[in-house]
Amino acid sequence: MSKNSLAYFISWILLQFLFGVNCQMMPFKPTVSYGHTATLIDNKLYIIGGRDINGKFVGKEFFYLDFSVPFDTQKLLLWQDLSYIDLVPPHSEAESVKGGANNDTLFLYGGEISDQTMALVYTFDSQSITWTISKITGDYNVRKFRLTAVEHYGKMYLYSGVNKVINNNVASYVFLNEMVILDTINLSWSKGSLINAPSPRADYDATLLPNDNIIYLGGVSAPPTAYMSNALTLSEVYLYNTINDNWSKKITSGKIPSNRAAFSTVLGLDGQRIIIFGGFFDDPGYLDTTLYVLDLTNFNWYIPKISGNIPKYRKFHQANVIGKYMVISFGIGYNKSVESDILLLDISNIEEYVWTTTFDPSVPNSIIPAPSLPPSSSPSPSSLQPSSSSSQLSNNIPAMAGAIVGSLFCGILLSFGGFFLYKWNKNKQKQRGIIRIQGNVN
Ligand SMILES: *[C@@H]1O[C@H](CO)[C@@H](O)[C@H](O)[C@H]1NC(C)=O
Ligand SMILES: *[C@@H]1O[C@H](CO)[C@@H](O)[C@H](O)[C@H]1NC(C)=O
Ligand SMILES: *[C@@H]1O[C@H](CO)[C@@H](O)[C@H](O)[C@H]1NC(C)=O
Ligand SMILES: *[C@@H]1O[C@H](CO)[C@@H](O)[C@H](O)[C@H]1NC(C)=O
Repeated sequence: MSKNSLAYFISWILLQFLFGVNCQMMPFKPTVSYGHTATLIDNKLYIIGGRDINGKFVGKEFFYLDFSVPFDTQKLLLWQDLSYIDLVPPHSEAESVKGGANNDTLFLYGGEISDQTMALVYTFDSQSITWTISKITGDYNVRKFRLTAVEHYGKMYLYSGVNKVINNNVASYVFLNEMVILDTINLSWSKGSLINAPSPRADYDATLLPNDNIIYLGGVSAPPTAYMSNALTLSEVYLYNTINDNWSKKITSGKIPSNRAAFSTVLGLDGQRIIIFGGFFDDPGYLDTTLYVLDLTNFNWYIPKISGNIPKYRKFHQANVIGKYMVISFGIGYNKSVESDILLLDISNIEEYVWTTTFDPSVPNSIIPAPSLPPSSSPSPSSLQPSSSSSQLSNNIPAMAGAIVGSLFCGILLSFGGFFLYKWNKNKQKQRGIIRIQGNVN
């Protein structure tokens, strides 16, 4: 770095320091509480839709949190507001995946609405920062919600879920028996097999496994029994093979969690276990930590060793794997003035998961490769990709830059900062190039 740009950079930091307090007085504060979607694209976790703490649909609210920089969930979260470009009507319990030809487009499907004017599929292009109503070919137009979408090779798998039917002003919920597939690349609908599929359900969770299977767990079964006491067992789980289009059932053993729904599921970093958190139970009979792990090599449930401050359990939240963390967003069950909207569980050490409040974007060097899952019949590249690996070198600077967003004044300051940052970065890149050649590292 030249002395000049270092001087600029330092004065920029000083300016930020002086005005930072001012700027942070008007941060964006989401009103969403639960029923949102959370989609990770390029280290940004995009949140849209959902309901506020009273169960009302949030208005047009669309925002993201940047996970390329370190932060502390105990401090003010620097949500970036994009509501001004949002054209999706208020809705809740929709589904989203990252997909599209370049694998950088958010696909939003379905959702419960109060009026009937919402399109079935919307896309958000993360490059041009625009929402579009997406026209999908094929014979399908059912608006479902309370399901869990999974993406694989550009296809969005939408199993079961509910559809609201209004007759004489009385709403009833129809549980659908179908595996609907939205091809996010050629924009077409199709349907998958239902042979040996689980019974129709809602509020289940589903996760893609490294062997092209999607695992389906829990949920609530169709009425007529009272909704909340209808949670399904986790003593059996279902696998849908996306390559062969067929289903199988696995009986689980070990410390089987109580029947539950509206929990969240992620794949462990080694690809060999499923971690579930929260949800509502059917008479748990005991108070547990609500964190369970399913070993995929033998379908045995166990309660993992955990440390850190154990948070209140949540339901109707979302979970994403970001870097080495299971990241929980929003949900019902916590007091917003006591706990952050974001929970972080460090899952990098399978011997002990750690609830933490600090996000460190660096990815662990040694993610254990996944050897022993039963392979599917056609070979495919491993889907294990640590989700945040870029931009480690520039970690601190955007963090500081982020800290000043919040008012017009800050925006102006930022553009100046951005200019110096650009200069500084350019210098740094030159340096890095040199280092790489000299040391031949990386
Ligand atoms: C899109 O990226 C995700 C990782 O973020 C990956 O799991 C998925 O397979 C990719 N999809 C395609 C079609 O390449
Ligand atoms: C889209 O791709 C699927 C396979 O993924 C194929 O079955 C379908 O015919 C294609 N549809 C269009 C409209 O190209
Ligand atoms: C799924 O389909 C594949 C390929 O046709 C077949 O080998 C396998 O036995 C099927 N599995 C089940 C559970 O039906
Ligand atoms: C949330 O916590 C604050 C601070 O402890 C407390 O004053 C408030 O009553 C709590 N709200 C609810 C709904 O429990």
